[in-house]
Amino acid sequence: MTKDEKEKGISAIAEQISLCKKCRLYEQALHPVPGDGSCNTEITFVGEAPGFYEDQQGIPFVGRAGKLLEFMLKQIGYKREEVWIGNIIKHRPPENRDPLPDEISACQDYLNHQLEIISPILVVTLGRFSMNHFLPDAKISVDHGKVQKADKFTIYPLYHPAAGLRNPQVKKNLLIDFLRIPEILENVKNGH
Ligand code: URA
Repeated sequence: MTKDEKEKGISAIAEQISLCKKCRLYEQALHPVPGDGSCNTEITFVGEAPGFYEDQQGIPFVGRAGKLLEFMLKQIGYKREEVWIGNIIKHRPPENRDPLPDEISACQDYLNHQLEIISPILVVTLGRFSMNHFLPDAKISVDHGKVQKADKFTIYPLYHPAAGLRNPQVKKNLLIDFLRIPEILENVKNGH
């Protein structure tokens, strides 16, 4: 697929998301948050769901967790606009509650379709909801930082930046795992 075809495909999905009523979350959300960044990237980052600021702006990871994500991206030589950043859930759950199983299943085709179009070499999941979308039996405390194959994607599960902001030990592990992304990407490219 050319860059242009990818961009058209990603815009078409964003349009579908803006009209989505497959679950209750659209009712209280201000804006849909379909995803952001380059669809011509080797790496995608997938979080959980929009929070307060994301809902205000329609852009993922623009609050405190987003600042930490941007800081970590800079450490490995990327700007946020050079990668694609999205979420499992495209409308903000009220009061930032955890997404419910029926909301996750109602929303999952959007992410699957987005990733099929982008076709990244590495999908970095942020937090357990995102990890469990691809790896239903994985446990974040055990499996963070371990590359795993899931169907057609290579998954690198990391702790969620918001969890890192709450717990210094988690932040330390998150940073250690994050700094390995370039090496992991090279390994995947070389078929290791
Ligand atoms: N947390 C997420 O999981 N996603 C966002 O977009 C913002 C915070």
